[in-house]
Amino acid sequence: MKQMGLALMIVTCLGFFPSGVSGEDAASGGRVYVCMDPAHPYIGDLAGACPLCKKDLTEKSLSVEALMESLAVFTKAMNADVSAGKTDSLKQHAEGIVFISDKLAGIAPAKKPEKQSEFKKLAGELAEKANAILVAADAKDEAGMKAGYKNLESLCKSCHSVFR
Ligand code: HEC
Ligand SMILES: [Zn+2]
Repeated sequence: MKQMGLALMIVTCLGFFPSGVSGEDAASGGRVYVCMDPAHPYIGDLAGACPLCKKDLTEKSLSVEALMESLAVFTKAMNADVSAGKTDSLKQHAEGIVFISDKLAGIAPAKKPEKQSEFKKLAGELAEKANAILVAADAKDEAGMKAGYKNLESLCKSCHSVFR
């Protein structure tokens, strides 16, 4: 019975593919796999289990919206890390934001597609801010982590004021 359930699950999952794996996937620029557990957000390129809680990751089509949803969870988690001085968790979340930035840089902004290069530049800055937090967390530099978080937040606003 258990095995049948599993087989059914696999069949259901495979059901996604025949219609879209090559065409749609290429057009949309791919997929991302996320764990939205607010306690330990995770995002990656590969399907499978969340490395942190072992639950199945959720597949999402790559889009600004999907990335933002994840980014908001990561940012919130980071805020908690900074307050609590949890440097390991902070580094993990900063790495997630770098991943999101890379994906973001490859997408044309829906609202102002003609400003793709500006969008890409802001996405690059998002990675820079996250990397600055990584460096501060590595050095256990509390003031640096706090300042880094503030810089990150103000960048959210800079991009939203133009592209949202
Ligand atoms: C490179 C540009 C860029 C950066 C940087 C950016 N965003 Fe966004 N964000 C967008 C765009 C564009 C949208 C609108 C997406 C849509 O609805 O298609 C958006 C939408 C959102 C949304 C969806 C809800 C809403 O109000 O529209 C959230 C939440 C969000 N961003 C959070 C963040 C956070 C948190 C940060 C900073 C850590 C951030 N974003 C940084 C471009 C950016
Ligand atoms: Zn998880």
